[in-house]
Amino acid sequence: MSTQQTIPLPPFEMRHLVGPTAPEDFDNPSGEPIYPHLPAGTYDAVFDFGCGCGRLARRLLQQKQRPHRYVGIDAHKGMIDWCIERLSPIDPSFRFFHHDVYSPGYAPGNSYQLAAPFPVGDGEFSLLIAHSVFTHLARQQTEYYLHELARVLRPDGIALTTWFFFDNDSFRFLPEGPYCLFLSEADFSAAVIYDRRWFLETARRRGLAVRMTFPPRSPGHQWVVWLERRRPGTEDRFPLGQEGAEWLCGATEKPIAKPGTREPLSPATGRHQALPVRHEPPPLFPLLAELAATKAELAATKAELAATKAGPGACERGSWAWRVGRRMVGYRADDRPRCGV
Ligand SMILES: C[S@@+](CC[C@H](N)C(=O)[O-])C[C@H]1O[C@@H](n2cnc3c(N)ncnc32)[C@H](O)[C@@H]1O
Repeated sequence: MSTQQTIPLPPFEMRHLVGPTAPEDFDNPSGEPIYPHLPAGTYDAVFDFGCGCGRLARRLLQQKQRPHRYVGIDAHKGMIDWCIERLSPIDPSFRFFHHDVYSPGYAPGNSYQLAAPFPVGDGEFSLLIAHSVFTHLARQQTEYYLHELARVLRPDGIALTTWFFFDNDSFRFLPEGPYCLFLSEADFSAAVIYDRRWFLETARRRGLAVRMTFPPRSPGHQWVVWLERRRPGTEDRFPLGQEGAEWLCGATEKPIAKPGTREPLSPATGRHQALPVRHEPPPLFPLLAELAATKAELAATKAELAATKAGPGACERGSWAWRVGRRMVGYRADDRPRCGV
């Protein structure tokens, strides 16, 4: 039986959570390097940030030149548990760790901390993969993890990362940003689109250089960017200005208008007309709703506590405080019931 058949496939729900669900996306039947353009030797020690349910780990396990060391981390505990139980036994040098940081979409039950150090030492990895992960992080998280990425890479290591990009330079009236656009108003982790100049400058400030950039397969989709530790005189191979503009999010099929031309436009095509019209006040964002529920619970507990302190006579018959009060009555020095018994 081939390794491919003996390595378990993650359940459909987990595959659905990370994106591609077809079994072929989790397989590597030829055993060839999973990223053919990377230099030989890059696969020696692999760190997989946001490894999900082991899609890439599974393909690396089938690679003829299997990594000597693989570490995968993810915010989703269920997927990490699955990888520990099903993939590590196939090769114990493949290890997985739950990364206990908050993600509204992927890990709402985690600790309320936005980032944490990678659980590995400095300069240990020849390849870091962050496939479709920065596309789900808030700006401050991205700044932090670019620094972590530079920390754990070997001097000659490569980080393969993916991004959605737009061009803030085309918003002339907004010189101070935005540098990140969020697909969802309520859940930043749904998808994040970065200003490409901001990305380059942020990576540079964190000691990184762009070794290669690959535009997306279709305009607006994920770019692949190889990062490496910055050396003096490194030139970033990353497009700005006109170069690559046709692949950005928001690039139009026509060239951008010249300032000063104000012709009336034809009626809109009505792409959003099918959306239901809302008349009620909008619901709270999930985090605010959670906070509001906790506040209400706290207020109710405080009220009951105050009633208990005031004595059984001060509380409503039948309430929690009234019942506790009744039980406590037996221990009162004067033993006089005061709560309407
Ligand atoms: C679109 S999936 C990609 C999974 C995997 N890289 C792949 O290509 O199959 C994004 C993954 O990033 C993880 N993730 C999101 N935010 C994270 C964070 N702050 N730290 C670690 N993992 C995170 C999610 O749990 C999810 O598994």
